[in-house]
Amino acid sequence: MKYVRDISFKDFVDSQHKAVDEDLAELRCSNESESVPLIFTETEEILGLLIDLTHPAKILEIGTAHGYSALFFAKKLPDARITTIERNPVMVEAARAEFTSRKEGERIDFRTGDAAEILDELVSELKYAVESEKYDFVFIDAAKSHYREFFEAAEKICTKDALIVCDNILLSGWIVEAEGKDAKRHRTSIKYMKQFLGYLHSRDDLEVSILTGADGLAIIRFINE
Ligand SMILES: C[S@@+](CC[C@H](N)C(=O)[O-])C[C@H]1O[C@@H](n2cnc3c(N)ncnc32)[C@H](O)[C@@H]1O
Repeated sequence: MKYVRDISFKDFVDSQHKAVDEDLAELRCSNESESVPLIFTETEEILGLLIDLTHPAKILEIGTAHGYSALFFAKKLPDARITTIERNPVMVEAARAEFTSRKEGERIDFRTGDAAEILDELVSELKYAVESEKYDFVFIDAAKSHYREFFEAAEKICTKDALIVCDNILLSGWIVEAEGKDAKRHRTSIKYMKQFLGYLHSRDDLEVSILTGADGLAIIRFINE
């Protein structure tokens, strides 16, 4: 995140952020204080804008952590159904507690296990599905080396007008400048993220918007002839 004098863009965006409700504001606070991974406020603003404009009915999220973003979607869209996938048992337990203690949790289909396997299950469950049973919004926010795999599975169960949003595509800026000890540690993710972005760019049937806010987002639409 860049700095201007002594205030970071992130601090500024955070100071302008209005939570959907007090409950979500408290959940953000507790996630941040326990260093639980969750979407940046700027990412939340962009996701909020996109769902306000498109009103999705069925959202698929890959990467639940403690359930913050899944609850954000559920609170913003009182009629939508959300499927979210998480494999880490500690995260699963925490997210389950957050979902069961809130009414919005009733609309969240929480699938636990490795996303690649769960996505295979969803692809077979939705094999003969009509458009209205498919996902019209997908948020990919899990293992950064597997975005292509997640994307290719997700597109099989999406409506033709769906939006697919991928978080963290800049990988803290390493996507353009992979220097230092941390970049070395994440070189596999960097390599696969670059390949994934190259793959998206090579597909003529996709409209891909790359945003540099927060940790970078790719917003993908299908070009329907
Ligand atoms: C950045 S966090 C998700 C944050 C969440 N979307 C939010 O904003 O509240 C990424 C999560 O994806 C999970 N994850 C990573 N790879 C996964 C995989 N292959 N299958 C399922 N979950 C995975 C991690 O355990 C982690 O909890």
